[in-house]
Amino acid sequence: MEENNISIKNKILTLAEKSVCLKEPQFNEQDSLFVGSSSLVNGFKNGKELFYPLSQSSWDYNEYNAIIDQLYTGNLTMGEKVEKFEKSFAEFFGVKYAIMVNSGSSANLLIVAALTLLQKYDFKKGDEIIVPSLGWSTSYIPFTQYGLKLKFVDIDEQTFNIDPKKIKSAISKKTKGILAINILGNPVEFKKIKEICDTNKLLLIEDNCESLGAKYGDKYTGNFGTAASHSFFFSHHIQTIEGGMITTNDKDICEYTRSLRAHGWTRDSLEKDSFSKSPSAKFKNSFNFILPGYNLRPNELNGVLGLSQLQKFPKILRARKENARIFKKLFDNQTYCSIQKCFHDSSWYGFSILLKGALQSKRDYIINELNNYGIETRPIVTGNFLKNSVCNFLNYEISGVLKNVENLDRTGFYVGNSHFNLEKQLLKLAEILHKLNKRIN
Ligand SMILES: Cc1ncc(COP(=O)(O)O)c(C=O)c1O
Repeated sequence: MEENNISIKNKILTLAEKSVCLKEPQFNEQDSLFVGSSSLVNGFKNGKELFYPLSQSSWDYNEYNAIIDQLYTGNLTMGEKVEKFEKSFAEFFGVKYAIMVNSGSSANLLIVAALTLLQKYDFKKGDEIIVPSLGWSTSYIPFTQYGLKLKFVDIDEQTFNIDPKKIKSAISKKTKGILAINILGNPVEFKKIKEICDTNKLLLIEDNCESLGAKYGDKYTGNFGTAASHSFFFSHHIQTIEGGMITTNDKDICEYTRSLRAHGWTRDSLEKDSFSKSPSAKFKNSFNFILPGYNLRPNELNGVLGLSQLQKFPKILRARKENARIFKKLFDNQTYCSIQKCFHDSSWYGFSILLKGALQSKRDYIINELNNYGIETRPIVTGNFLKNSVCNFLNYEISGVLKNVENLDRTGFYVGNSHFNLEKQLLKLAEILHKLNKRIN
């Protein structure tokens, strides 16, 4: 049996060796970038290698080994590895509690569920929450699922984040909170937004799914609201297959979300030992349901992957920032485009570009040319979210005019970032755009 196990492990490792993406990345300390070829994972479309894929795997032997080792233990459902990752994550990002779930969307859902169920937050049906018009579908949907009304405001034309100047006029007697979404790695204007929250007694909630590792002042994003969500899906800064995290300094939110992610039971309470002292209480407490919960648990493979990724996260972050330096040098101050402006310490999820001048009306043509060259592009997150037909199912209102998000929707696109050195890819992107600009003008 032992021999059999070893041969299975060797087979997996041999398989790993054959694939470029699985080679231990060499880290060049001098330029702080992972060097070598890019990942084969996600690097192909229709059998053709992509010159500049949207996202790339940040796994190497460590992650594959971690998966294999965990498989060998036989413990795959949520357990001590998830707990260890939660503790390490909380410590790394300087927050009291971290609660892992199976996605960033689940993190958003459980935050809203906990705020609504915890009476002290006084979130009632019909209450309003102010949100930016650029975000992700599952940033918004949980609020209406729990009976709150979304009030959309425009984004800032430079940062693409919620515009603090637009918030004040959106506040009504029913407003209970503001959802801050740090877009594409870029921290929102927390000082201004927190001032508005304090003056008007509003709760601040953070969706940090795109911005792990970003900093506002000396604090990581995810530390400014009552609770924050994070995502570890493939294209994100940390990749655990699927996965997400809730962070909070409020023990009640921690307790509620721990219960809500697992059927609404008490078994995962931080205090479980205190009310399970007698054998009969312990018996009862093993199946004791107190909240209208779900099953949104991660598993142990997500946990070990998180631990492994967190170790290399500082390097991943440095490499992404180095690519951003190249991006800014190439595209800032160009006549034919503008780029997302980051006034704080962005963690650069991706690179977004708004076309200007004659190129503005030629986005489809440009995207097509880029795609022909193997450069993958996407709209900038949801674009103007209000244009998505899911809004027919949502309870919402628009405050003011959504001019900036509409411009971004019409003229913008984004390309990916990763921990690989993207200089060659970004230079090519610039060359193509220059050429097209000359041709069109
Ligand atoms: C801003 C934002 N919130 C939430 C999510 C959802 O995260 P997940 O894909 O892990 O469910 C995403 C996904 O990319 C996102 O961009």
